[in-house]
Amino acid sequence: MGGYAPWNADVAQQLVARLSGLEGAMLPVLHALQEEFGYIDSAAVPLIADALNVSRAEVHGAITFYDDFREGPPPARIIKLCRAEACQALGCESLVAELARSRGIVVDQHGAADLVVETVYCLGNCALGPAALVGDQLIGRLDAPRLMALCDGAAPARVQELPPGAAGRAAP
Ligand code: FES
Repeated sequence: MGGYAPWNADVAQQLVARLSGLEGAMLPVLHALQEEFGYIDSAAVPLIADALNVSRAEVHGAITFYDDFREGPPPARIIKLCRAEACQALGCESLVAELARSRGIVVDQHGAADLVVETVYCLGNCALGPAALVGDQLIGRLDAPRLMALCDGAAPARVQELPPGAAGRAAP
């Protein structure tokens, strides 16, 4: 996933200063930093602590408490897999199991890997589940071969074109 600016302390300082006057500024500040840089750099922690007049431990606690925040640069690819009710009824949990079985990928585990599969709850594509989102591309009727093709780096549009149940790999 592209689109993030490289870490820049001056830009971070400006973002923090602009939002620090808000009531309950911690979360807006953290979200703004992550939207800008893709993660919360450790160098931002003292900036935030100073601006919000809280301890560094409190800032770090907030970053680690919420699963949404990353402490390192985002992986090259994030697949958001819907696991809400309608997609469950259409088999999304078997995709989760297949990821673990054939690729050793644990959903929602953020390691150093360049691919992360994250749980989301409803992408508004319930009738065409299981659904997933890669970048801004919504994918419907996802099955194991398509999901593995996405894991291999296939373009979402290419995966979308594959007939359901298509075996083999999609070209990147
Ligand atoms: S439940 Fe999966 S898209 Fe709505």
